[in-house]
Parts: sequence; structure tokens; C-alpha cells
Amino acid sequence: MADVVLTEIHGRVGLIRINRPEVLNALNNDVMDGIGLAIDAFEADEAIGCIVLTGNEKAFAAGADIGFMKEFGYMDAYKTDFITRNWERIRTCRKPVIAAVSGYALGGGCEVAMMCDMIYAADNARFGQPEIKLGTLPGAGGTQRLPRAVGKAKAMDMCLTGRMMDAAEAERSGLVARIFAPEKLVEETLAAAQTIADYSLPAVMMVKESVNRAYESSLAEGLLFERRTFHASFALEDQKEGMAAFVGKRKADFKHR
Ligand code: CAA
Repeated sequence: MADVVLTEIHGRVGLIRINRPEVLNALNNDVMDGIGLAIDAFEADEAIGCIVLTGNEKAFAAGADIGFMKEFGYMDAYKTDFITRNWERIRTCRKPVIAAVSGYALGGGCEVAMMCDMIYAADNARFGQPEIKLGTLPGAGGTQRLPRAVGKAKAMDMCLTGRMMDAAEAERSGLVARIFAPEKLVEETLAAAQTIADYSLPAVMMVKESVNRAYESSLAEGLLFERRTFHASFALEDQKEGMAAFVGKRKADFKHR
């Protein structure tokens, strides 16, 4: 059996590639377990500062594997903790994870992309939550993360009609951070990831944690969290180095401490 999740290391960046091209990278347990193991390894590795998750040019992922779940009963889904057991690892990763999306990101594919900290897309990317066409609904966070990304009107439109959104509309709507030509997507995403990975890792983690608070709390609570975290950053050796380097007109040499 082909390895359904491939990993590579580029400098301080860990690349995870979903590899089931024959089914447009449909997400089954092997894929989601594989992504989880890859994140475990990259997160434990001090030499990795940022993670990129991608598919192939035709598909990031066309959703959860429909063949696998089509005969599920409620007990199968409930007792196996379907989705939660092995899909939530991306969300708990403390290092930044960038989704590099080319082609289809549908259903669970769109949801996995949205679990990442940001999405870079190729201009051929297509996003959608087509579960309504299957007689069900997004089950990996689509009804929650899509409205937060694109607002209620577009999220309702996408989830209720099942239509796809192209890369330009996705960028306009706030779902996608940047768009590249398909052949440049991984290279450009790795370059951005390397930029992030070269900064102080604890500072990067503090930024990620603080931005994510914007989704979990009121503005007052979020600002308090940010302020306390900012104060805590003065305990970093890298903060001393970063500011000294600026004042000394030299490049900072971060030690990720
Ligand atoms: N699960 C299983 N197999 C899938 C799949 C999926 N989600 N998506 C595509 N495939 C398979 C197809 O069955 C086909 O396999 P065969 O060659 O063996 O027939 C192969 O991938 C290629 O697909 P198509 O022939 O359909 O390719 P296309 O170019 O004509 O169409 C597409 C592309 C529009 C993406 C179409 O494949 C499609 O609509 N896929 C399903 C998308 C979908 O409904 N996703 C949501 C799944 S439910 C979910 O994700 C729930 C959740 O929230 C967690």
C-alpha cells in the first residue's frame, strides 16, 4: 500500500503531503492518523519551527472518504468518536501550520485547511462544503470556522447550496491569505514558512496563541491575554537578542529560547 501521508524537511520547515491521488486525497483514518503522527514528530523536533500541509495540484483533499462512512450508523460514528479522535490534532499543534491548497478543498478537505493557521492557495483552488448534497452537514468544524472566516452570509450560502468558491473569491472573503500560481504554491509557502521558522519559536508560538484567542474570547479577555503574553515575552532570551540586534544594526541570531 502506498504511504498515504508523506513528509519532508526543508530547513526548519516540516512539510506534510496527503497522498491518495486516486481518490482526490479523500480523508480516511490512515490519512488522518498519518497527519497526526507527522505533527507529533515535527512538534517534538526542536529543529522545526513551522509546518506546511499540502496535497497535490489537483486536490488538497476532496473531503472525508465517502465510501468508508456511507454505511455508518449512529453508534459507529459515536463510539469511534468519528472526526474528533484523529482529526483534531491539527488544532492542538502549538507550532504554526500553513495549508497550501491547490485544486479541490471540499467538505472535510476545506475543514482541515481551515483548522490550519492560514491558507495559501493556488489560483486553481476550489473551496466548498458540499455535504448538503450527501444528505448531511459539515462535521469537522465547517459550520463554525467558515462563518468566522468569511462571515455568516457567505458561510450560509456555501453550506446550504454546496457551491464551490474559487481562489479569488476565497481571498476576497478572507478565507485565503495569499494566492500563487499552482506550480509556485509549495515553493512560495515553504519560503514563507521558513521566514516564520527563522523567527524566535517561542515568540511565534505566543503570536499564534494570542491571535487564536480572538476566536475564543471577548475583546476584553483577548486583549488581557495578549498583554500578559506580551509582558511574558520580556522573559525570552530571543527578545533581548532581537532588540539588541535592531539597536546594533545587525541581524538577530535567535536561539528559540
Ligand atoms: N470520498 C471518496 N472518494 C472520493 C471522494 C470522497 N470525498 N472524492 C472523490 N473521490 C473519488 C471518486 O469516487 C473517484 O473515484 P473512482 O475513480 O474510483 O470513481 C475519484 O475520486 C475521482 O473523482 P471524480 O471522478 O468524481 O472526479 P471529478 O473530477 O469528476 O469530480 C469532485 C471531482 C467534484 C471533487 C468530485 O469527486 C466530488 O464531488 N467529490 C466528493 C466531494 C464531497 O462531497 N466531499 C464531502 C465529503 S463528506 C465530508 O467531508 C464530511 C465532513 O465534513 C467530514
